[in-house]
Amino acid sequence: MKSRSYPSSRTNPIRVAILLLVSVAMVLLTVDGAGASPACNPRKPATCTLRELADLHSLRIGSTAEPSEVTNPAFASILGREFNSLTPENALKWYATQSTVGTWDFTGADAIVNYASDNDMSVRGHTLVWAQDTYTPAWVRAISNPVDLRAKVNEHITTTMNHFAGRIHRWDVVNEPLATFGTGPSSSVFWTMGPEWIADAFRLARSLDADAELWLNEYGSDWVPGKHEALLELVAGLVADGVPIDGVGLQTHRLPGDQLDTVRFGEQLADFTALGLEVAITELDVPVSPDDPSAFQKQATEYAKVVSTCLRVTGCVEVTVWGLTDGATWLDSLGMFPTPTRPLLFDTNFAPKPAFEAVRRVLATAAPRLPVTGSRMTAVATAGLLLIVGGAFSLIRAPRPGLIAGPSPVRPTRARYVGRAQGPRAGVRSNRPGRYPRPRKHR
Ligand code: XIL
Repeated sequence: MKSRSYPSSRTNPIRVAILLLVSVAMVLLTVDGAGASPACNPRKPATCTLRELADLHSLRIGSTAEPSEVTNPAFASILGREFNSLTPENALKWYATQSTVGTWDFTGADAIVNYASDNDMSVRGHTLVWAQDTYTPAWVRAISNPVDLRAKVNEHITTTMNHFAGRIHRWDVVNEPLATFGTGPSSSVFWTMGPEWIADAFRLARSLDADAELWLNEYGSDWVPGKHEALLELVAGLVADGVPIDGVGLQTHRLPGDQLDTVRFGEQLADFTALGLEVAITELDVPVSPDDPSAFQKQATEYAKVVSTCLRVTGCVEVTVWGLTDGATWLDSLGMFPTPTRPLLFDTNFAPKPAFEAVRRVLATAAPRLPVTGSRMTAVATAGLLLIVGGAFSLIRAPRPGLIAGPSPVRPTRARYVGRAQGPRAGVRSNRPGRYPRPRKHR
């Protein structure tokens, strides 16, 4: 049998080298559009913004905003520069959009969503149903017939999601279904609709937007005794029942003086990714004692621990800080801790604190990770790059007569995150050096 012959050009090393260089350059140009600016050098963290560095990890780094803040240059300039994700702090809540029955007002939330879009930030839609009566409009709390209440809940979810269709792609469908400092259901009026109300809210949300990410968000599972286990049981039940849930938001409002056990916290995050879900730190703040002279250093350490733990768990896709400056924190009016609580990354004068530098340092020095929820474009470009390099290698290898091509020496290093395929604990990843493409557009 005649052995297959190869055109000489296929083994010409110069042509192959040129082809390889041109192809790699094209792929890098395609994916690099929204990455770090040329001035950002992660080896010198001070040259980078938080979002430039977070993009290298396909991590959403977020803050919150009120409508008045996105039109205030002091807030707006920092938000758009440092963060790639934005959560309306209050403007999307039921009490803001329909404080009296039938009177809808989306102007505040629209302003925030438009600002985010103008600044290429993704939006976390917080929240459709918040299961805490303190924050539920009086007219909703007063509905005693479960059938009527369900109708109003459905109308609320439908009207809100339809209003933001195509603009908000990620919703906290249900917020705080558990008791704030306990492990049972919250005492919210929404539980009067029966135990299925959470599943039904998610199913409705999925029917309204097949592409949106649907999240359940909860307070205090990092420190309230037994709450992580209670939340895990609730979420595992939803997953087992085939409820369309994509992720679990852990608010992570820390306590003054508390030191995070990063091993335990990493395991908690991985407990959710092992269910095939994404996980996010959605409302991080670290209050400190007003009279501790080393408070800001300790706070910086705690911020660094939270961010680095998220980075080492595959499927932890976001760290959002609950507020921008110490002058605008909800904790100072909560009455839970001595004030000023000073829990955020910027001080009252909008100056970055040690905690900001610590987060930036962690983002700059942690090994970059493959995209998890990055744009499809990034995934396609990554695959393209691997194919090109693999193809070039196989061309360079001297072909043996009779074979079409030798085996490619390039294997995908890691599949795109598919949580379900992982076993328990498998979500905790080891850091591995490398350089990966960046997401182009935040969604
Ligand atoms: C808080 C806001 O920060 C305050 O301005 C508001 O008065 C009450 O709500 N858990 C949540 C957030 O899910 O929505 C809460 O935000 C903080 C606790």
